[in-house]
Amino acid sequence: MSVDRGVKCAPGEQETPESGFERLVAAEQRVEPRDAMPDAYRATMVRQIAQHAHSEIIGMQPEGNWISRSPSLRRKAILLAKVQDEAGHGLYLYSAAETLGVDRDDLTRRLVEGRQKYSSIFNYPSLSYADVGVIGWLVDGAAICNQVPLCRSSYGPYARAMVRICKEESFHQRQGYELLLTMMRGSDAQREMVQDATNRWWWPSLMMFGPPDTGDAASPHGHTEQSMRWRIKRHTNDELRQRFVDMTVPQADALGVTLPDAELAWNAERGSYDFGTPDWDEFKAVISGHGPCNAERIAHRRAALDDGAWVREAAAAHAAKVNTHTLPLSMSR
Ligand SMILES: [Fe+2]
Ligand SMILES: [Fe+2]
Repeated sequence: MSVDRGVKCAPGEQETPESGFERLVAAEQRVEPRDAMPDAYRATMVRQIAQHAHSEIIGMQPEGNWISRSPSLRRKAILLAKVQDEAGHGLYLYSAAETLGVDRDDLTRRLVEGRQKYSSIFNYPSLSYADVGVIGWLVDGAAICNQVPLCRSSYGPYARAMVRICKEESFHQRQGYELLLTMMRGSDAQREMVQDATNRWWWPSLMMFGPPDTGDAASPHGHTEQSMRWRIKRHTNDELRQRFVDMTVPQADALGVTLPDAELAWNAERGSYDFGTPDWDEFKAVISGHGPCNAERIAHRRAALDDGAWVREAAAAHAAKVNTHTLPLSMSR
């Protein structure tokens, strides 16, 4: 299908599907499902959106763990709403992926069979209710830094899903931070819980931005340059990580917690904070399936899939019956 949104090729130039696509993205236009696109672009978008969807769904587990043990009705309502939002994010994203010609069922199979990844962060355990607050503050905070630029992704359905998701993520971050502020005004034991949770989640949060831009741990795909050109990626991992650190350090000060990094210091020359290096060996181990909770997370997701099989079967049987019965009616109209 040709691409014509007022983005014309130069006079005398021969238009091809590839050049049409390249000009479209270079002009900051959106690629829509029926537009011609390179196979590599389609495959990259499917992988990116599916991994994102999987992360939303698996990400329900660490906090979902605490819903039944919330300390008050108010906290329970907030946490329930937050975890439900994450389910909704997963659904928008699977729908966005389906516009590229893949099937949600198949993506879920790829997840439970370990053929597609999700964010490394959700393979860490949530050990106390303070973790609910710290996950909202740091994990959703890091997700916001990663996701705001995705509202301008070149792939239309993904970009539009991200606009709504980002609005909800900012509620997630606030509810976490507000919980932590309340705990910090409480007892010494509560303050210790907040500090302990901060110590455990800080480094994994920095790893959420992916490997450093250069060096041994750098992305094995090496696709950054092409992803930038295709407007799939707009900032490098290190740029986003720096943005997150600069945003979070003043929040930690206001909260009264210490971030567990002796190298953290304001650099007046750069106008940014210097900080230490995450343990990239740990990152590699977690992302390749050897984190503290990888097996548990996948086992839980697989059990939910198996438990829900009868619902999907019943819905499919009902849809088949309804279609059969309504066919003569619709034909008579
Ligand atoms: Fe989310
Ligand atoms: Fe969230």
